[in-house]
Amino acid sequence: MSYKNFPMVPRVIFGRGSFNQLNDILAPKRQSINAPFIYLVDDVFKNTTWLTSRISLSYDDKIIFVSTKEEPKTTQVDELVEDIILKTKARPSGIIGIGGGSVLDLAKAVSIMITNEGESKDYQGWDLVKNPAIYHVGIPTISGTGAEVSRTTVLTGPEKKLGINSDFTPFDQVVLDSELTKDVPKDQWFYTGMDCYIHCIESLNGSYLNAFSKSYGEKALDLCKEIFLDDNIGPSNIEAQENLMMASWHGGMSIAYSQVGVAHAMSYGLSYLLGTKHGIGNCIVFDHLEEFYPEGVALFKEMKALHGIELPQSICAQLTDEEFEIMINVALGLEPLWENAVGKNWKKIITRDKLKALYQKM
Ligand SMILES: [Fe+2]
Repeated sequence: MSYKNFPMVPRVIFGRGSFNQLNDILAPKRQSINAPFIYLVDDVFKNTTWLTSRISLSYDDKIIFVSTKEEPKTTQVDELVEDIILKTKARPSGIIGIGGGSVLDLAKAVSIMITNEGESKDYQGWDLVKNPAIYHVGIPTISGTGAEVSRTTVLTGPEKKLGINSDFTPFDQVVLDSELTKDVPKDQWFYTGMDCYIHCIESLNGSYLNAFSKSYGEKALDLCKEIFLDDNIGPSNIEAQENLMMASWHGGMSIAYSQVGVAHAMSYGLSYLLGTKHGIGNCIVFDHLEEFYPEGVALFKEMKALHGIELPQSICAQLTDEEFEIMINVALGLEPLWENAVGKNWKKIITRDKLKALYQKM
């Protein structure tokens, strides 16, 4: 038995308003005046001056606003990297991602691809990255995905939706400032928060569970319940913003040393074929997973009702047999997720017909 030796985020600053200290954090990391900091910022903040005005640009630093209408793609990463290399005089001093899971994952992937040859699709998988990434900082503006702590960056490539999982993927620095999450719309808040809740359920009910994952998963689950089982609490509640930020962190830590499960495997299929975004996709799938996670799904339905959330229905109603096959292939390709969810003999239980029947309900 050989145990995995995982890196963790080495530096984190936590606190409301801590975003104001970003310049002090970055200054010592500047390599030269020709080596800029590149900020990847979710384009929902394009006209949000309370946020953008606090980013102070010096020398050749620049902000690139990125659209997160779609999940991050390998081609998007490759284009960003090419653009950055072409337009900078020297290798950048760092990449700073400011946004949700999509932007954080893009920032991680770009920082890796600046020092590694070829295309990002070649690195989708486990431990394929050869060279350390450049300095990269993650600043979440919505909580739940765990992208700020994870050792992966999930990308949709030409053949698969799969993460670049490597020791070089985690951020060198994370800034947790709950104030940045204050304007998250309620449905988004719920879907992304439920990503965290589902991380907990999948980790705590998985065959890979161990004391490390359990301790983080239980704490994150308690926080999620505290937040989402109270209909007086919404996205603008300051205490809940701080708690959800820490739930996301702990949920991410929980799956670092275990795995996610059925909802994630199947939602990757939806996302690959239909472009369904991660948070809402997980919710659509999880709503139909009573047989795998009876208690977790019952509580999910309770939280959904409490906050008046209505999930899209029949998104698979018009799909052809070939399209179902594509989703099933993507889902079944995520072997560690199934092994964690169902056990070593998962192939006997999770048949193509079974997955098709489940997708047909969604
Ligand atoms: Fe997730």
